[in-house]
Amino acid sequence: MKTELFNAKTQKENGTGVAGRVIRAGGLVVFPTETVYGLGANGLDGEAVNRIFEAKGRPNDNPLILHIAKKSDVKPLWKHVPDIARTLMDAFWPGPLTLIYLKSDLVPDEVTAGLDTVAVRMPEHKTALALIRAAGVPIAAPSANLSGKPSPTNIDHVLEDMDGRADVIIDGGPCAVGVESTVLSLVGQPTILRPGGITKEMLEGVIGSVKVANAVLHPLGEGETAASPGMKYRHYAPDCDVIVAQGSPRSAAAIINREYAKAELEGKNCMIFATEQTKSYYKGKKYVIIGDRDLPGTLCASLFAALRDESEGTDVIFAEAIPAERQGLAYMNRLLRASGFTVLTD
Ligand code: TXA
Ligand code: MG
Repeated sequence: MKTELFNAKTQKENGTGVAGRVIRAGGLVVFPTETVYGLGANGLDGEAVNRIFEAKGRPNDNPLILHIAKKSDVKPLWKHVPDIARTLMDAFWPGPLTLIYLKSDLVPDEVTAGLDTVAVRMPEHKTALALIRAAGVPIAAPSANLSGKPSPTNIDHVLEDMDGRADVIIDGGPCAVGVESTVLSLVGQPTILRPGGITKEMLEGVIGSVKVANAVLHPLGEGETAASPGMKYRHYAPDCDVIVAQGSPRSAAAIINREYAKAELEGKNCMIFATEQTKSYYKGKKYVIIGDRDLPGTLCASLFAALRDESEGTDVIFAEAIPAERQGLAYMNRLLRASGFTVLTD
């Protein structure tokens, strides 16, 4: 397939106009959002949705998110809109929050993988909103990576995975949040199935107590079923090993320095994900600064791009664990999965 590339800044109307028609005709469009790039298709057309699974190599028991351009567009997609959803939509939409509730008959089984619930989100990115409006239908879209790879947060990483697999790609530059949206189930007690830019603390400030699914920070036990099908797959895996060091910044750095030296003796190429607070511990070693430990959103913003860029020619990446609070919960969720839960503690 020949992929047509548009620039969101210089070819604004043209890009979303063409892409909107491609969606209506059953094709695939990669578009920027504030979280990560999405691979979109007409969310009301089961056949079009199947093309997403093919293009990504995604297991088709993993349901998709429907993207809408205005709050009231959620109405036809759910059985009804519960009050708690209205409260959350008013507080956080448009933005990186996906809400799961009972689906209506309008939503094809291909989107929900046969579940009786559907995930919906209204993104904040102007290009995403313009595209959804141009398409005139909800857009089903997972992250625009090949299944298992870190989600793409810039155009180079999109092209790496999706050139030749989508009809249109819209280049919107780097994504601000850098990790996928918070996924919150509103069936039963509100539960975070996947943490993201809208934090547990922010949600609790509006609706009170929120649960966090066990699978967010722990590998699934034998025979355990994931509340969210996506949780059971190896995710965000770069082309090298990732090892997480747990402890205070000083002791995490000590573990990393010790293991780095060992790995180097074995002839391995090593890389460290350092932070502003810890960079001085790693003098003389290969490291990149990926953000500020006190502003975990900065670590989220660069994690996926760093996993892709730094895994090239590298055998092992060492990264520090940070407290699983605020955006730190999303950071640790992605980092632990990228490492296959390989954690070293003193
Ligand atoms: O930020 C985002 O959410 C990005 C951008 C493109 O919007 N999209 C994204 O989609 O991350 P995807 O497909 O990569 O992740 C959707 C997650 C998966 O873990 C999936 O299992 C879960 O949401 N999910 C979707 N529908 C669900 C449902 N009905 N019940 C439980 N989990 C669901
Ligand atoms: Mg994904």
